[in-house]
Amino acid sequence: MSFNPTTSRKHYHLFDEEQIDHMYFDISPAGEIDANKYSLYNFTGDPKLEYAEWDSRLDMMNSWFSDMKTNERFLYERESINGSKVVSKIIDPVTKEVREMLNFASNDYLNLTQDPRILEKVTAIAPYYGAGAGGVPLLSGSMNIIKQLQEKIAEMKGMEQAIVYSSGYGANIGTISGLLGHRDVAIYDMFAHASLIDGSKGSNKKFFSHNDPASLEKVLKNIQNKYINKLVVVDGVYSMDGDICNLPEILDIAHYYGAWVLVDEAHATGVIGKTGKGTLEHFGLEGKVDIITGTLSKAVGSVGGYVAASSRLINYLKYTSRSYMFSTSPFIGSVVSSLEALNLISKQEAGMDKLWENIHYVKNRLLKAGFNIGNAETAIFPLIIGDDNKVKEMTYRLHLKNIFVNPVPYPAVPRKLTRVRMTVTAGFSTEQLDYTLNQIEEIGKDLNII
Ligand SMILES: Cc1ncc(COP(=O)(O)O)c(C=O)c1O
Repeated sequence: MSFNPTTSRKHYHLFDEEQIDHMYFDISPAGEIDANKYSLYNFTGDPKLEYAEWDSRLDMMNSWFSDMKTNERFLYERESINGSKVVSKIIDPVTKEVREMLNFASNDYLNLTQDPRILEKVTAIAPYYGAGAGGVPLLSGSMNIIKQLQEKIAEMKGMEQAIVYSSGYGANIGTISGLLGHRDVAIYDMFAHASLIDGSKGSNKKFFSHNDPASLEKVLKNIQNKYINKLVVVDGVYSMDGDICNLPEILDIAHYYGAWVLVDEAHATGVIGKTGKGTLEHFGLEGKVDIITGTLSKAVGSVGGYVAASSRLINYLKYTSRSYMFSTSPFIGSVVSSLEALNLISKQEAGMDKLWENIHYVKNRLLKAGFNIGNAETAIFPLIIGDDNKVKEMTYRLHLKNIFVNPVPYPAVPRKLTRVRMTVTAGFSTEQLDYTLNQIEEIGKDLNII
């Protein structure tokens, strides 16, 4: 790597087999790779990076990050000193003062991470079992309380059996990679979560247009007889857009073409369906899909993941899903809290009514103000802006008003759809929502977003 002061560019050698190629980056006044000119894609997604030595790859990424951090608008990794609360105490990355911020950045939709009924159970039971499980599930890490959680998940999801993982990421990657081989194919909604897509590293993958049954049908027609097994993979509720999967049509088409269907219920459990059971309950399709995965980290308010399916399939995954077999069982505190949270959700004592009151309130006001919120239908609201600088600016100005939202720039979503992502939880009062929406409207007008 080298830096040429006459051209003000950073220069890296690439080691292509045919020829020695180069990568150049403009620098900022701080002497680092100019954060305003490049996106994460340049340092993680560009195919040319394959030819760069580790030293160059690390240098590029770190230089770009250093430049970003000189800018007050770098608002990732803001640290909370009191957890995920409606009013979270956040250390300001620039001034280091503690700000009391309204937390519109959390997936803790029912605020169950803080629920005293749950914390009481955790405090009583966790010390009895201890701080760790001490083993993987197939060896010494099986426990009666984990089994109870698995049974509760299976019951809620209308499936014969379930197993839990230490994360939703592990559940998704482990289920898909444990089931599909190199003659099988997964067909993903193009907005499906990364943890699902990562499951296909050792098999084949195709994509269909977001929530578009006609596009799915086209893909399935094109690949007829090309693969032994086909799995259609969707999210019940999409994590960046907050829209609900068009499951009835997708299910019909997939099954017509002999494909199985997997639904990731991460953002649906505890949010949709009359009693919070998720997408299947929402559409009255209980028992109709082949595989359900999910996380215990969103509305359930803890950490961990699961897959629920027929007993035959779960028994198979126990011995093929490597993130299950080779990973220690989850922390008992999170098992106990998840179990209690699912019980509260099932009994309709977890505050779903209040969550929906808040969702309707926020949605009406954002639409009335003229924001583009795509097809948002749940607790996730994308304020679609399509301009990375405005996304950063809006996030920063809201930060100064003590409102915590997250920027979603390119390449996390397509350039035209870059956005501020805002999530609503049950615990907000109308006054808190009004204050936030007034600020959002004012800033939106000032930046010509609305
Ligand atoms: C749709 C979806 N699936 C899976 C996951 C992964 O879950 P976890 O955070 O429990 O690993 C996430 C987010 O974290 C998600 O948004």
